[in-house]
Amino acid sequence: MKFFVDTADVDAIRELNDLGMVDGVTTNPSLILKSGRDILEVTKEICDIVSGPVSAEVVALEADAMIAEGRKLAEIADNIAIKLPLTWDGLKACKVLSGEGRMVNVTLCFSANQALLAAKAGASFISPFIGRLDDINLDGMDLIEDIRTIYDNYGFKTEILAASIRTVGHVQDCARIGADVMTAPPEVIRKLASHPLTDKGLEQFMADWAKTGQKIL
Ligand code: E4P
Repeated sequence: MKFFVDTADVDAIRELNDLGMVDGVTTNPSLILKSGRDILEVTKEICDIVSGPVSAEVVALEADAMIAEGRKLAEIADNIAIKLPLTWDGLKACKVLSGEGRMVNVTLCFSANQALLAAKAGASFISPFIGRLDDINLDGMDLIEDIRTIYDNYGFKTEILAASIRTVGHVQDCARIGADVMTAPPEVIRKLASHPLTDKGLEQFMADWAKTGQKIL
């Protein structure tokens, strides 16, 4: 499973990328706001760090304007994935932009039927939002499972990019089900390394090592 990092925080991206944990990046208008940076400038900086797909989201709501914004965002770098909302206009824009050979990430997907439409419109990625479904007492993981089944039934090449990942359990479930990609905030990716038994075991080893009075270096 590929790891995308869901942030516009350049320092966090650089740190995770140096560890080989970043196959791509996703941003959205809320993350751009949080970064306090100009969208074109920060996205360019991210594309200079990461060689995989970097999603940059349009903010227009009408297809022609989405297409114009998407083309402008795509000028930033060759690895831009244009992020479009899963609306009828977003699907129209997806069809045009993917037809031009551009990477498109269709976002804000909350149903398997929406995912089916995005695949038919030529999306490179579909982004089902797990956490936001969980927030309203639905099981986001059921959606990932349904999309996996449907895409496999018909051989769609659109990659399932599990989004709105909030917990380490989400990451594990996505990997088990076979999402192609997951995008998570840096803190969730860091938490994947944590286990209380690792901490406890290390504490014991350190205490016993101190008693040996030995040194390695
Ligand atoms: C994905 O591309 C989105 O930017 C993101 O995963 C949304 O996550 P949230 O629901 O935690 O805001």
